Amino acid sequence: MKSLNVFVIGAGAMGNGIAQICAQWEHRVKITDAYADALAKALENIKWSLAKMEEKGTLKESSASIFSRIRACSDVTDAKDSDIVVEAAYENLEVKRDIFKRLEEVCPEKTIFGTNTSSIPITEIATGLKHPERVVGIHFFNPVHKMRLVEIIMGLLTGEETVSVAKEFVISIHKEPVIVKRDTAGFIVNRINGMAFLEALRLYEGGVASVKDIDKAMKLALGHPMGPFELMDLVGLDVVLNARMAIYNETRSPAHYPPAVLKKMVESGFLGRKTKKGFYNY
Ligand code: 3HC
Repeated sequence: MKSLNVFVIGAGAMGNGIAQICAQWEHRVKITDAYADALAKALENIKWSLAKMEEKGTLKESSASIFSRIRACSDVTDAKDSDIVVEAAYENLEVKRDIFKRLEEVCPEKTIFGTNTSSIPITEIATGLKHPERVVGIHFFNPVHKMRLVEIIMGLLTGEETVSVAKEFVISIHKEPVIVKRDTAGFIVNRINGMAFLEALRLYEGGVASVKDIDKAMKLALGHPMGPFELMDLVGLDVVLNARMAIYNETRSPAHYPPAVLKKMVESGFLGRKTKKGFYNY
């Protein structure tokens, strides 16, 4: 695949990881965020990460030349020359719809609109757009530089051509795509793994075992690199809660309703690694 103009929206852990990996595989990247300080921090993180990889000899060119392909932008109007957009903004339907409505005004018709939503149905995000056929889920996993899978999710109106470009794009950045053919909240991984999160929370809340022992059990019994609580802290408890609520709202099944402890942690501002406190202290 030729080098593309990629526009990344959202400079959190996922957005900056996506921007970095795209630049590593020779795409030209612009990244934007509603908050200037988040954008500045993202650039610092990318610089740090590339330097670390260069030190280990895992880059195929200098970190400086990779970094030179990334440009910070102040607004989505800078997306006008993009081949593909990857939106990794706050996990909220209205926020995402608004972003894509604004993008539709500035991007040419050929631009593919990817969303990194972890659980909101793609069909709902695309509703109301003039060209919903160009919206597709392109769902990365945290940490982006390490996790090899990307889920490509088809909304009800996603075009075949859009899916095929998204797949080629994912392969071009050396990730492995899987196609999710029906647009359902949580897709594959979050749908399955989210149940493990909920059961772990219920066991802890019910006093069956400690956070540490549940994590230990899952790591040593199943060979997982992290236990469910370590993983929730990595992903962000707010992200986990939002994903669980999106799945609950779609299914209305009590099995998907998050236990109170998760809500209380989020309300208290204990969001995991990013706030230095979650189920563990950092
Ligand atoms: N860039 C470059 N280097 C980095 C880095 C980065 N961003 N972050 C850490 N490193 C470096 C560290 O500094 C360390 O360097 P050193 O060897 O010089 O000390 C090295 O990489 C190893 O770091 P870790 O010890 O943290 O790495 P591990 O080998 O222990 O692996 C892990 C960490 C990859 C996170 C592993 O534990 C793992 O695979 N965990 C499971 C992750 C997972 O399941 N992710 C999916 C989450 S679900 C999701 O994302 C869905 C979403 O929708 C919510």
